[in-house]
Amino acid sequence: MEETFAMLKPDAIERGLVGNIISRIENKGYKIIQMRTSHLTADLIKEHYQHHLGKAFYPKLEAFMMRDQVLFIHLSGPNCIEGMRLLAGATNPNEALPGSIRGDFAFDMTENLIHTSDSPETAQIELRRFALI
Ligand code: PPS
Repeated sequence: MEETFAMLKPDAIERGLVGNIISRIENKGYKIIQMRTSHLTADLIKEHYQHHLGKAFYPKLEAFMMRDQVLFIHLSGPNCIEGMRLLAGATNPNEALPGSIRGDFAFDMTENLIHTSDSPETAQIELRRFALI
C-alpha cells in the first residue's frame, strides 16, 4: 500500500471545488488518512518549490500560493502516487485530459488546483514538510 501527499491550492478553496476533488479521490478508492487547512509562509513555499526559484514565474507562483488557505491531504491506496498524478492531470491544463481535475476545471499553469507528489521519496519529504507525519 502506498501513501502520498496532495495539496489543494488556493483556487480550489476559492472556487468551492474542495468537495468535488475529495469525492474524486474517495471514488477512486483511496483512503484519506489526514487533512488540514493552512496558510503557507513564503519560507515554506520557497522550500517546496526550490527547484523553481529564480524562474520567471516564481513570484507569481508565490503570490498565488499565499493568496488563500490550502488544504493538505495525506492519503493511501494501491499505486496512489501515480494514480493521483493521473487524477490531477498534466501540469499544463491545456494538455490535461477531460476527466482529470485540471482537464475539467483549470486552464492556467499557475492556478491549476492541486499538487501531488511525484515519487515515493518526494511523498515522504512532502508529508514531513507539511507536518502530516
Ligand atoms: S517539475 O520540474 O517537474 O517540478 O515541473 P512541473 O511538474 O512542470 O511543475 C511545475 C510547478 O510549478 C507550477 N507553476 C508553473 N510551472 C510552469 N510554468 C508556469 N508559468 C508555472 N506557474 C506555476 C506548476 O503549477 C507546478 O506546480 P505543482 O504544484 O508542482 O503541480
